[in-house]
Formats: sequence, C-alpha cells, structure tokens
Amino acid sequence: MLDWSEPSATPARTIPLPQASADPTGLGAIDRSGGRVSVDEKRMINCRADVNQLLPLKYKWAWEKYLAGCNNHWMPTEVSMQADIALWKSRDGLTADERRMVKRNLGFFAASESLVANNIVLAIYRHLTNPECRQYLLRQAFEEAVHTHTFQYIVESLGLDEGELFNMYREVPSITDKAAWALKHTQHLDDPDFRTGTPAADTAFLRDLVAFYVVFEGMWFYTGFAQILSLGRRNKMVGVAEQYQYILRDESIHLNFGVDVINQIKAENPHLWTSAFQNEIRAMLREAAELESAYARDTMPTGFLGLNAASSEQYMRFIANRRCAQLGLSPAFEAAENPFPWMSEAMDLKKEKNFFETRVIEYQNGGALAWD
Ligand SMILES: [Fe+2]
Ligand SMILES: [Fe+2]
Repeated sequence: MLDWSEPSATPARTIPLPQASADPTGLGAIDRSGGRVSVDEKRMINCRADVNQLLPLKYKWAWEKYLAGCNNHWMPTEVSMQADIALWKSRDGLTADERRMVKRNLGFFAASESLVANNIVLAIYRHLTNPECRQYLLRQAFEEAVHTHTFQYIVESLGLDEGELFNMYREVPSITDKAAWALKHTQHLDDPDFRTGTPAADTAFLRDLVAFYVVFEGMWFYTGFAQILSLGRRNKMVGVAEQYQYILRDESIHLNFGVDVINQIKAENPHLWTSAFQNEIRAMLREAAELESAYARDTMPTGFLGLNAASSEQYMRFIANRRCAQLGLSPAFEAAENPFPWMSEAMDLKKEKNFFETRVIEYQNGGALAWD
C-alpha cells in the first residue's frame, strides 16, 4: 500500500545559514527583512538572490523554452502501434540485423531517459540557482518521464522482453560504456558535500552539463534517432518512428537549453573558460564520438540501406563539430559532411506542419474539454 504521509525522517537543519538570501537551494529559512530581487542580482550559479522569486525574469530564453516545451506536449499512447505490431510479429517484415538494431536502440534509450532525468533532478537542479531555469528543468524532467513512458509503451505493445531491454545498459558493453562515461559526472555532483563556488567545483558542474546536455542528449541520442527514422523512411516501425520524432522535437529543445545554460555561465564566469578547459571539452566530445562508433559497430555490424557504422561515425563527427560551434569552440574533428541530410528535415519541424500541428491542436482541445 502506498504511504502518502509526510516523510518522518526529514533532517532538521542544525547549522543555521549565514543569511537566508545566501541560500542557493531555496529551502533556507525565510529572510523577512530581505529586499525584493532585482534582475541584476540574478545569476546562473552561486546566486545570492532569493531563488523562489520567478519574476522579474532575467533569462527570457529559459522561459521561452519552458513555453515551447508546454506547447509541444504529447503522450506516447496517442500514437498507434498497430502497423509496428504486425511488422514485428511477421516472419519476414524485418531482417535479423534490423531487429538487433531496433532492440539495442530501444534498450539504449530506455535506461538513458532515466539517467538523464536523474541527472536533472538530483544533480543539476540543486546547483542551478535561477528560478526561470529551474522552471524549465521541471518541464524537462516531466518530458523525460514521458520519454521513459514511451519505452514502456513500446515494450508492452510489441511484447518485448522488458528485463532484456531495461537491462541492456548493464548487460550490453557498448551501451554500458556510454552510460558509465556520463554517470561519473553525475556521481561527482550528487555527493552531499559537493558545493559550487570554487573554480574547481564550478568547472565540475560545467563538465556535467557538457556530458549530459551536449554529449548524451546532443550527440548520442542523434545516432539513435537516425537509426529509427531511417527505418521509418522505409515505412518500417512507423509508430516507433513517429514517437521518436516527438522525442527528437523535445530533445532538440533540451540540447539548446543546455547550450544556453553553458554559454550563460561562461559569460558570467569567464575565468572558468580557460583554454585548458576548452581543450578538455573538445577531448570529451572526441571520446564520446569514439564510444558512439563502438555502439554503431555493435548495433549495425553489417549495415542497412543508407545507414551503417561508418556513416554513423561520420555523422557523429559532423554533430560534434556543430556542438563545438554552438559552444564557441573550435572544431573537435576535421570538417565532416553530414551523411544524413534527411535528418535535418526530420529536425526542422516546420516542415512537418500538418503532422505536428494537427496533433497539438487535437491534444489541446482534448485537454481543454477534460478540464471543463
Ligand atoms: Fe528524453
Ligand atoms: Fe532530454
């Protein structure tokens, strides 16, 4: 039976904070004599202004992303899985290679969505001392829950082995290596003694943002999207492909939010953005691309029409260079062409006008009726 009572083991705060306004979490005692927050006092990290006052807004880009996320609301159960179920159960609808790729792809995403969600809630939120950014993080956390729900729905619809899928991040080395690479950054921040406020700690925080927003969501997810959307383009697993398009739409905002956060912290704390740290980030992106190549070889040992391990490796280098440009860094790799130009179409959702707008309008109507 679920216990909805208040947790009894909430630790009392035994060490008083020097002053409530210096509390970066928003959980400190209320400062009754504190002044109202002005825009100039707001900071991304190590803020001394009250983090419980959303207004006045300073970072409009964060608020706009929150609104965009809300406007993009969708649920996986809105997508029909009938064609996918028929194809998955048919003997010849998919090749053995395609099945292997689909299963490993689903396995990678199934746990990754949880890892990303944990990172937001347990590591990032506490140290990002700005209410409009926290507002977006709360929206993103819900979207990650919707994405995890998607994999539950796919597993249930196709009758997949849930244990096999949700354990791939532990049992398939090419997936484990990626998860372990990212997790070490979260673990560092999750330490109860971790505090930002020194150059070393602030750099560790930036490292975690790079690992999750730029690498995990901004690089690794994109090979995953390309794998499934390439099947969708050939009219295979069209329900899953449709869900991946919705996830891709969400993830592109997650990525851009992460890039804006990093760039804003950089602007407010230029001393952190040393040439050594810039080199370190480029090295992280190169290492991440290497891990992705191993995953591509493992999931696509022979390749399919228009997609194989070599083209995926090239795609990762192309994407890594784009991420470097977004962060104001010189490229991590020699100039690489985009081997999947059709992916930019899948990402440019204005071209999917009918597909998405119809859905969103339908959903909003349904939502409004439900609340009448
Ligand atoms: Fe996600
Ligand atoms: Fe995400």
